[in-house]
Amino acid sequence: MAVGIFDSGLGGLTVLDAVTREMPEVPFVYFGDNRNAPYGVRDADDVYDLTCAATERLWAAGCDLVILACNTASAAALRRMQESWVPPGKRVLGVFVPLIEALTERQWGDNSPPREVAVKHVALFATPATVSSRAFQRELAFRAIGVDVEAQACGGLVDAIEEGDMILAEALVRSHVDALKRKMPAPEAAILGCTHYPLLQDAFQAALGPDVAVYSQADLVAASLADYLRRHPNMHGPGEEALFLTSGDAGRVSDRATQFLRREIRFQPI
Ligand code: DGL
Repeated sequence: MAVGIFDSGLGGLTVLDAVTREMPEVPFVYFGDNRNAPYGVRDADDVYDLTCAATERLWAAGCDLVILACNTASAAALRRMQESWVPPGKRVLGVFVPLIEALTERQWGDNSPPREVAVKHVALFATPATVSSRAFQRELAFRAIGVDVEAQACGGLVDAIEEGDMILAEALVRSHVDALKRKMPAPEAAILGCTHYPLLQDAFQAALGPDVAVYSQADLVAASLADYLRRHPNMHGPGEEALFLTSGDAGRVSDRATQFLRREIRFQPI
């Protein structure tokens, strides 16, 4: 009954942690493509090819359903995968939609026309590839009108986190928040549109100030995935074992993951 969780590297562990808490009975197979991270500086074709290869690896591990716990892959590759690549009996889902539904206070699957929502000024922090795709703004426009989104491409942040250099990462958060505030001085809400960024949620909140509501994806994705699996019990794949797989250096990745999740995580090389 395994389900696959994919990210370019360590960021998807923030989602893995939340889905494991929400559904302790489900064996999740995590795949971090650490060798090829970061994805956020790659072009869309490259992200598509890498994401398809990673998804096939998770299918081979007995997961019929794969969650792209990576905004960059969700923004740059998911639609193309769903439209022309995913075979019958398999599913690939992303992490954007649950976040937008929370921001716009919509119920899961509400397909009514876009309407005015309470939040008018939204700051989006994401990778360069996610920002240039404009996928967030496109998905938001299906559901809400009159929302001003200012996006900040957070160059260097994923690299710093993958390297475990949290002092550099915190300095980058402060400078990216400053850059955002020069364009939008008083955002009401901030979206952490990269699954690596919740590892720095406190730094974002401190730099933004206490009045800004900071949205991150992990718990929202966990709630939507639990709901999805209740409605589609057939999407539990045949795999039975929870696994952590990486294309990178398994020892190094395990150490970082253990540090981030504050519990022992052992990755296997693919
Ligand atoms: N965690 C990925 C995301 O959500 C990071 C992408 C990258 O590797 O740059 O976008």
